[in-house]
Amino acid sequence: MQTITTVSELRNAIRVWRLAGESIAFVPTMGNLHEGHLKLVEVARGKAARVVVSIFVNPAQFGVGEDFETYPRSEREDQDKLHAVGTDLLFLPAVSEVYAIDAKTVVTVTGLSDLYCGASRPGHFKGVATVVCKLFNMVQPDIALFGLKDFQQLTIIQIMVRDLNIPVEIIGVETVREASGLAMSSRNSYLTAEQRAIAPKLYKALCAARAAILAGHRSYAEIEHNAGLFLQESGFQTDYFCVCRSRDLKKAETGDGNLVLLAAAKLGKTRLIDNIRFSIPNK
Ligand code: PAF
Repeated sequence: MQTITTVSELRNAIRVWRLAGESIAFVPTMGNLHEGHLKLVEVARGKAARVVVSIFVNPAQFGVGEDFETYPRSEREDQDKLHAVGTDLLFLPAVSEVYAIDAKTVVTVTGLSDLYCGASRPGHFKGVATVVCKLFNMVQPDIALFGLKDFQQLTIIQIMVRDLNIPVEIIGVETVREASGLAMSSRNSYLTAEQRAIAPKLYKALCAARAAILAGHRSYAEIEHNAGLFLQESGFQTDYFCVCRSRDLKKAETGDGNLVLLAAAKLGKTRLIDNIRFSIPNK
């Protein structure tokens, strides 16, 4: 595995592969890699001749008072893990390599970027869309893989790629969960032992809401309210719990058949997000 830090080295490596007619898969990450990230690389391996992974803790997607400074960084261990799963190239740029000091251009996917996680983290998705667009321009991959855990992020990236005619296929990869049901996340390392015991209840709340809907309940407001109460009683501060259409993340109505339940809740200072997608039969 090559590890490189500059865009010019990255372009040189990619040029060699392109001249040899090889396809390229790209997995952008912020590091502190867990099994969810490694699954993205594994799926990428099966779909392209070469796999590029980036590790870049993107300052533009963290708000004031958020955890940019303390975000877990584990580059040595990450490199070993990526090497072990067959990554061809790790791109590890410094902030100054990614952003010009007087950068004037940003990418905003309007509307959806201000809802759900975007409502509690203003500017977050502008930072995500901008860096992902820049990374796509640097790597110019055929395909790029993202975790379905960040379903709103994935939807925003799909809209950006469509609207800006970026020639890359976006692939969502299923969430990897611990045996308890807790979705793997780099931020799980912030949880205390006591919070870790509570954290799987976020997924439990999603499963209970899905079961209620599949059993025929159609009062989505009530389902959201009950889930919020369950989370609060379990020790979470709920940010949102919403029954949405999976197509565009608008609030679901009774006739909608393909749904996603989106949830975000805090345990102490740690913000966890999760979702489940499913269809109501015979819709
Ligand atoms: O999901 C993440 O880790 C980040 O938001 C991403 C897509 C790597 C952009 O910084």
